[in-house]
Amino acid sequence: MRISVIGCGYLGAVHAVAMTELGHDVVGIDVDATRIASLSEGTAPFFEPELDPLLKSALQSGRLRFSTVAAAASDADVHFLAVGTPQKPDSHSADLTFVDAAFAAVAAVAKPGSLIAGKSTVPVGTAERLAKDLATLTSEVSLAWNPEFLREGFAVRDTLEPDRIVYGVETSAQGEKDVAKLDAVYHEAIKAGTPRLITNFATSELVKVSANAFLATKISFINAIGEIADITGADITELADAIGHDVRIGRRFLNAGVGFGGGCLPKDIRAFAARAEELGRASSLAFLNEVDAINLRQRQRVVDLAVELLGGSVNQRRVAILGVAFKPNSDDVRDSPALAVAVQLKGLGADVVATDPEGIDNARRQHPQLSYEPSVESALDGAELVILVTEWQEYREIDPVSIGSIVAGRIIIDGRNALDPSRWRESGWTYRGLGRP
Ligand code: UDX
Repeated sequence: MRISVIGCGYLGAVHAVAMTELGHDVVGIDVDATRIASLSEGTAPFFEPELDPLLKSALQSGRLRFSTVAAAASDADVHFLAVGTPQKPDSHSADLTFVDAAFAAVAAVAKPGSLIAGKSTVPVGTAERLAKDLATLTSEVSLAWNPEFLREGFAVRDTLEPDRIVYGVETSAQGEKDVAKLDAVYHEAIKAGTPRLITNFATSELVKVSANAFLATKISFINAIGEIADITGADITELADAIGHDVRIGRRFLNAGVGFGGGCLPKDIRAFAARAEELGRASSLAFLNEVDAINLRQRQRVVDLAVELLGGSVNQRRVAILGVAFKPNSDDVRDSPALAVAVQLKGLGADVVATDPEGIDNARRQHPQLSYEPSVESALDGAELVILVTEWQEYREIDPVSIGSIVAGRIIIDGRNALDPSRWRESGWTYRGLGRP
């Protein structure tokens, strides 16, 4: 298949590379010339494990190219829209400027018989609106919605071996043709037995936001119970293990800590609740506002704990922050809980030094007022308090004995409940997790 991918960020760049890996002929298009130059040279402009080698081999195959011009998509049989839908600056709704612009650009060049397949996470009703717009322009190009469920850090694997494929298509004969086209794109995954669900536009849009809302709710659920554990002496990690054995509940996404961040969960639950309000059903998703509030409270819990552990004030006290990315194996700092904690402590007068294996450049762009150190050792030097906020494997493996002589105070907050409390305490540290006695 000849494929175009409009938008080459975390989602689109990985999708373009994965589609080439599957044997298709692909052009990746983005308005950001720097991003396109970097991708064309074989270097992803962001950190994603496994991506760079695949990008290089895809370019070498001669079946992948990148362009800043929408006209480069004119040859494609299927056009994937993979642009961002960030939160609007002045409300909780999703900003559809990029989706609308990408759609208009590709609709203007799409050849007769081709299919535009949206991958971006959009408010329910968007695909129907775009399909109507498309019908006013041409009857020879069709629209489908094909949501993406990839996780950063596992994006390549999640794209090549998805756990399900969802197509939202028109309920007409055209819809059947569109299914056949998408089947040709995902031939390998379908052959491997990946569940494939064919549904209408609204369902496909809701599948994506519901999945993210469910995951966010699971995390906030365990964090809310963690708040109760904190004041009763229960251990949230043991509790999560115990309830997680119930297969109806499951242990995954029950890790209590500083909460969720990133470019998806926070803005998706806000946009979902905002959309429900627009639809006159605000009460149906009002619980998502609580999920959001619980999540944001976890950041405050860490800050409050820092103040408590330093005797009532962090002013002019040196605090080392381990991790700035919103999660390990990513350099993404969008809505990062780690950075939120660092910024708040800085605002309280703390001398904050942060480190991260991949996220420092992005963090510095967002928060130049913070100090950054490239290594754990240099970040910990003279610290009176250490806060682990992003559970990179190398932070999990830190030896409390050897770093005990670098810091000025052996006090650690484990914001992800990722460390072994007894090991740290036996090495002379004051250890505090979240929801752990
Ligand atoms: C998420 C969805 O998982 C993915 O399916 C969707 O396509 C995009 O949004 P991503 O944003 O990459 O993916 O991150 P994810 O792995 O879901 O983690 C989100 C946040 O939740 C991170 O900040 C992580 O640290 C936090 N988290 C996750 C917890 O606090 N506890 C957990 O148990 C799991």
